[in-house]
Order: sequence, then C-alpha cells, then structure tokens
Amino acid sequence: MSRKTRFIDACYRRPVDCTPVWLMRQAGRYQASYQAIRQNMSFFELCSTPDVAAEVTVNAVEELGVDAGIIFSDILVPLRAMGAPVELTHSGPKLSDPIRDEAGVAALEVVDPLATMPFVMRAIEIFNDHFQGEVPLIGFAGGPITLAAYLTEGGHSKSYADLKRMLFAAPKTAHQLLDKLARQVVEHLKAQVEAGCHAVQVFDSWVGVLSPSDYAELALPYHQRIFDELRGLGVPRILFGTDTATLLPQMATVDAEVIGLDWRIDLDEGWRIVGERRAVQGNLDPCCLLMDQPALEKRVQQVVDAAAGRDGHIFNLGHGVLPPTPVENARFVVETVHRLTQR
Ligand code: CP3
Repeated sequence: MSRKTRFIDACYRRPVDCTPVWLMRQAGRYQASYQAIRQNMSFFELCSTPDVAAEVTVNAVEELGVDAGIIFSDILVPLRAMGAPVELTHSGPKLSDPIRDEAGVAALEVVDPLATMPFVMRAIEIFNDHFQGEVPLIGFAGGPITLAAYLTEGGHSKSYADLKRMLFAAPKTAHQLLDKLARQVVEHLKAQVEAGCHAVQVFDSWVGVLSPSDYAELALPYHQRIFDELRGLGVPRILFGTDTATLLPQMATVDAEVIGLDWRIDLDEGWRIVGERRAVQGNLDPCCLLMDQPALEKRVQQVVDAAAGRDGHIFNLGHGVLPPTPVENARFVVETVHRLTQR
C-alpha cells in the first residue's frame, strides 16, 4: 500500500495495512539537516524560498520514514501577508505593535495567497515533483483564535489577558478580527490544495484557553465556517487544538474528517467523545521522545492499544516535536507504530 493510500484511507476510516504516522513539527531544529540550512538564512527567508522549504519538508519525510509530509511554512506567514509584521526572535514570535483595537483590525487585509505567498504553492509543487505523488502532503493554517492570540498579545503569553480583553470586552472588534482571519485561512488552504496538497490541517493550538461557553461563541462558528467552505475541495480536513478535552463535544460538530487529540485525554476516551464516524489523530506526549527507546516503546504501545485496531487512527504526537528530541527516537516511533500495527 502506498503511503498516500495508507494516510488518505485512514482519514476516511477505511482499512489500511498498518497505522499511518506523521509527527507534528516533524521538520525543525532537532534535525542537524535543518540546523545546517538555518545557519545561512533567517526563518522567514527559509519559508519564502520554495526550493529550500521543499527540501526541509522532504528531509523530514526521508529521515523519519513518515507516511505524510507537512509543507514547511508557519501559521505566522499569512499574518505577515495580511500586514502584521510578525518576527521570530529567540523567545518566539514577536509583533512590536500588537493589534488591540478596531483601527488595528481594520488595517489588516484579507489577501490573495497566490499574489502574496506564491512561494508556499511553489514549495508544494516541488515536494510533489520529488515524490511523484507517492507521499501525501498536508497543507495547513492556524486557527482564528490562535492567530488572534499572536496578533493581540504580540507574542506568547501565559494568561492570554490581551486576547481575552478583546474577546470578552470588545466582542464586535473581536468578531471582525476572527472573521478576517477565518476568511484568510479558507483562501490559504484552498490555494494550497489547488497547488497539490492532499489534506489540510487547521492548527488552533491555543483554543484550549477558552471555556466551553466561550468556545461556543468565539471559536466554534469559525471552525464550522472554515470546514464547511473547504468541504468541496474533496481532501481530508483535520482540526487540531491542545487542551481541548472539555471542548471535544463541540469540536465533534465541525465537519472535519479527522480530529486531532493531545495527551491530556486518553485516545479511547477522546475518540468516544468525537464519535466513531470520525478519524482521530494523536496523541503521544512529545516528552516521551526524550526517554530511552524501551520506555518510549511502552508509551507508543499504550496509544496503539487505546486505538484498539479500529480503522481511522492516524498516529501522531499530541503537540509538536520538541527541540531536544533525538532524531533516532523520532524515527523509532515511526518504525515502532508500523511494526506494532501490521495487519
Ligand atoms: O514540520 C512541520 O510541522 C512544518 C512546519 C511548521 C512550523 N510551524 C515550523 C516552525 C508548522 C506546521 C508550524 C505551525 C505552527 N507555528 C503552530 C501550530 C502548531 C503548534 O505547534 O502549535 C504555531 C503555534 C506556530 C507559531 C510558531 N512558529 C512558534 C510558537 C514558533 C517558535 C516556537 C519554537 O519552537 O521556537 C515558530 C517558529 C517555527 N515554526 C520553527 C519551526 C521549525 C522554529 C524556527 C527556527 O528557529 O528555526
């Protein structure tokens, strides 16, 4: 079975020969090949140089043996195209002039991805030329709450007080912002599929900072709209967030083929909540990859056991690969899942 068939069939809950695996943030600083490339160019330079972005994407697939690639880019790339000059510093993303009022929101523009981010689409084509369509490629975008978090906070945050000040105290401005972000997400994902991506994922990584009632008001309508507008593309759609255990009953109403789970809920319990009709992706704690291989194998086995051989499990981490991860442990996870789930 080709990697493409294995991954796509699992997304649609069809039987496969073994459980497909890919790892969130599988391309990055824990790889020597990535570090070598980053010595010569800045992060956003890398993202906007299609042959190098494609090379980094291909390297991750080849070094790990995963069943899917995820195009090397960032959820911040479309924010820069919309007019928010986000930079990447040693302490993470930084926006010097955070967006906290109506004028700031009004200045953001929903842009044509082909005109403003052609390098993303070009990198997708180069990846597909390399693998001749044998390896599926995932396109992605950030979710509206996560993107709004970077724009309002100006960087990473513990309390998300600036985000929530806007969401709770200025709901009209907040909805204008979320609406623009959702429209940009749809445009960006459509362009990536038209360029050749075989699946799409929305990373609403920080959506778990919301209570269930705030999720219902501020996130769910946008998740539903994004996924409804992507239905016609005919590719599997993955919705991911962290800390979503209490939000899963609502996320299960979004028309996504696959729901991503983090490790804060056991996979079988999360799957029960999102329903058997759905495929699930997850959910090994990325910290497990910092252990020795016998201990790591036990943790991989636990996730595989929780999936209990059901169709529609895509093995992944509950969040991104951590920078101190040994590459051989990432490769070991992929081999171990394939070995343990051979049918
Ligand atoms: O292999 C892949 O998964 C593709 C590449 C990818 C990156 N970012 C590359 C990257 C993907 C899918 C992302 C998504 C992303 N970016 C998310 C959603 C997923 C998640 O982990 O929650 C978020 C929240 C971001 C925002 C972002 N970009 C942060 C917070 C950071 C800095 C954090 C860190 O780890 O340093 C980035 C930078 C970034 N994006 C790096 C990489 C490889 C590190 C860049 C470097 O220093 O070279």
